[in-house]
Amino acid sequence: MMMVAHEMRAPVTAIQGILRTILDGYLGEISPRQKELLSRAELRTHSFLSLINDLLDLGANETELVESKLSPTSLKDVLDKVLGLLGVKLKEKNIEIEVETPETPLIISEVEGDMEKLFTNLIGNAVKYTASNGKVSVRIGIEDKSIKIVVSDTGIGISSEDLPHVFEEFYRAKNARMLEREGTGLGLPIVKRIVERYDGKISVESEPNKGTIFTIIFPENKIKISPGNKRK
Ligand SMILES: Nc1ncnc2c1ncn2[C@@H]1O[C@H](COP(=O)(O)OP(=O)(O)OP(=O)(O)O)[C@@H](O)[C@H]1O
Ligand SMILES: [Mg+2]
Repeated sequence: MMMVAHEMRAPVTAIQGILRTILDGYLGEISPRQKELLSRAELRTHSFLSLINDLLDLGANETELVESKLSPTSLKDVLDKVLGLLGVKLKEKNIEIEVETPETPLIISEVEGDMEKLFTNLIGNAVKYTASNGKVSVRIGIEDKSIKIVVSDTGIGISSEDLPHVFEEFYRAKNARMLEREGTGLGLPIVKRIVERYDGKISVESEPNKGTIFTIIFPENKIKISPGNKRK
């Protein structure tokens, strides 16, 4: 499966590039109808590419952290970037977002992209599975020398039958499938992989129709927290 995913990435990326070129008008003017269909094709290509990337992420066997691959990252900067990217969705659904981060910037050592994927998937889910006018909150704090990240929402929740399965690949609960057709069930498995890479722990509590809370704890020894000296 990984080989297939890998082989698919290049052609799909090429198709996306071609669609973009036409959409941007480099081949001459296009009619509104053409534009609409091409935009739709581009959107689907984009989803397809995300799926390929998710599969490749899960297939990567590098669970071990290699020192040379680590670089300092400000957690707050990553969070701001992810919230920026989710901005349109948040506005669309009129979801209130509450963010709590420590005063001093938290710099951690990560493999570039890990924390971004983690926040994108957790906050993305919180927004996706919360109806309009709901609330999502993200809290980052230090507790007993560990980093604690809590992402909670006032969304559809997860039933006690589904709860033990949400970190399994391709698992999607019925209420989630009913609310949002789009989804593969690979987001949380990817998050779990990342958390375990840094010797962290992830847990989830939820009540149907009330909301969901994901809590992550990263021990200091693996993630190397250095407050204050912002280098990035
Ligand atoms: N915040 C949440 N509120 C309610 N249900 C959730 C939440 N987060 C995850 N879930 C449940 O866990 C399932 C797995 O989540 P996961 O992110 O892995 O997949 P997905 O969001 O369905 O698809 P994708 O691969 O696009 O992320 C979801 O389908 C949903 O049933
Ligand atoms: Mg998801």
